[in-house]
Amino acid sequence: MPAPDKVGEGRKDLSELAQAVPTARDLMQKIVNLLHDRMLKYNWVGFYMLEPGAQPPMLALGAFEGAMTPHTRIPLNQGICGAAASSGQTVVVDDVSKDHRYLACSLETKSEIVVPVFVHGKVVGELDIDSHFPAAFTSEDQELVEHCAMLVGKKLETSGR
Ligand code: SME
Repeated sequence: MPAPDKVGEGRKDLSELAQAVPTARDLMQKIVNLLHDRMLKYNWVGFYMLEPGAQPPMLALGAFEGAMTPHTRIPLNQGICGAAASSGQTVVVDDVSKDHRYLACSLETKSEIVVPVFVHGKVVGELDIDSHFPAAFTSEDQELVEHCAMLVGKKLETSGR
């Protein structure tokens, strides 16, 4: 993973990494470590995965890097996280203070991106990133984060875990 101006190279490295690790769980851990360490504006990076069989459906915190969050389980009708998982769409929020859906994880967070993870076309979880900087997530960032989420979905499809 290179500096933020070399997102294309980062994507290639991540694709190779996805081939090298045995499970999706390993891949998620590597992705949160890499994105958090190498992308300077990515201050909290974590996966939320849908709990199998939970009624009502619930997102549970998985691998993450950054400060502990009070939101370890999030229903689909709450938060930016719930919005992304229930719509199956990437959500980018440039100013979290202006979004009524936002669930605060840290007082320092200014912007957020949440990208769903799909397995065989169904949402199974998502990759959530918070930044201490307003409007930190450009279209290039969005492509990178969507690439990471896609790799995890494909790994889940092939390794099943
Ligand atoms: N901000 C998220 C909650 C998760 S924390 O950011 C880690 C939301 O609004 O759903």
